[in-house]
Amino acid sequence: MENILITGGAGFIGSHVVRLLVEKYADTNFINLDDLTYAGNLANLDDVAHKPNYRFVKADICDYTRMQQIFAEYHVTGVIHLAAESHVDRSITDPFIFARTNVLGTLTLLQAAKEYWKDDMQGKRFYHVSTDEVYGSLDHGGFFTETTPYDPKSPYSASKAGSDHFVRAFHNTYKLPVVVSNCSNNYGPYQFPEKLIPLFINNIRHNKPLPVYGKGENVRDWLYVEDHARAIDLIFHKGKIGETYNIGGFNEWKNIDLIRLLIRVADRLLGREEGASEKLITYITDRAGHDLRYAIDATKLHRELGWKPSLQFEEGLEKTIQWYLNNQTWMDNVTSGDYQKYYTNMYANR
Ligand code: NAD
Ligand code: TYD
Repeated sequence: MENILITGGAGFIGSHVVRLLVEKYADTNFINLDDLTYAGNLANLDDVAHKPNYRFVKADICDYTRMQQIFAEYHVTGVIHLAAESHVDRSITDPFIFARTNVLGTLTLLQAAKEYWKDDMQGKRFYHVSTDEVYGSLDHGGFFTETTPYDPKSPYSASKAGSDHFVRAFHNTYKLPVVVSNCSNNYGPYQFPEKLIPLFINNIRHNKPLPVYGKGENVRDWLYVEDHARAIDLIFHKGKIGETYNIGGFNEWKNIDLIRLLIRVADRLLGREEGASEKLITYITDRAGHDLRYAIDATKLHRELGWKPSLQFEEGLEKTIQWYLNNQTWMDNVTSGDYQKYYTNMYANR
């Protein structure tokens, strides 16, 4: 029996990965390890929490003794590591927690895996989920490939780059069976409303200002979160040990163009005149060190494992806006902080 430890499963992408894998592989046990920071919300997993092949464990990935206990208690045979601090703006305000969680936390997990598997690495796998931001910022031309040199520019991307280097170092030095992927910006249900798309949907709904950094000319490559989860499933099961796979949407948008499209669709779904909410657009001081453009070349993943995005952006965006409008209670619980009180009390004494 396989026992797969998924870290950060109560977060945005992690909850989609947990849902997909728990439902698809009924004969595999999945242990969702999450410390329930502000970004972790077990309500994201209400629909799978009762499944017999699912367990939740509240723990901090930086706690080595606890990681050792968990590997032994659950006989862990594989890891899909998503737990991280993930928001660039927070990394600018408080870089230390990013170094702690992303670098030291990843190192702690690697060490726990290496020690637990050291006598038999056969069939084991440590999958590290990372970001395209480690490659730095592009000008208007070119794409990031798996061989683009690392050039992180924000405390967030620097901490993710540090974690990626440790993962590869453990493969090179200890032969730990690792695989790494670097993905572009995700969007979809259950994303914390500090990130562009859910923040703006919520603000449009409440007629609040839409804060656009600089002139809105930065470019991001957007991928629907369920397509990322499918790629993770594929790479975890079929990817080659020691390899890196870039994941992207082949879908670049200048922020201001995306925001205008978002406004049109949201206005239509809210029964407003299309474009009426454009008056909410508010240009504000640019983010410090704001990366101009990210663009992923995901040809390797397509060529070697046959993956490609399943949704057109317009379709994915409409689905996403509709989801947030239909799930206002989820949004209200997150913005009021109620989700944390509930689960913090529930797990306080465990
Ligand atoms: P998220 O912020 O929504 O979720 C992170 C999760 O990690 C939360 O559930 C949080 O409680 C948990 N966590 C944080 N610190 C922890 C700790 N010390 N111990 C245990 N759990 C802890 O993040 P996300 O957007 O779902 O991103 C998941 C992963 O994917 C991250 O590694 C991120 O770098 C990467 N990634 C994200 C994107 C994106 O667009 N969101 C794109 C590419 C890669
Ligand atoms: P974000 O969702 O924070 O992701 P990332 O910084 O990892 O790409 O931001 C996406 C883009 O939107 C980025 O160029 C910054 C911009 N942005 C705004 O203009 N206003 C905002 O309030 C936010 C959160 C982001």
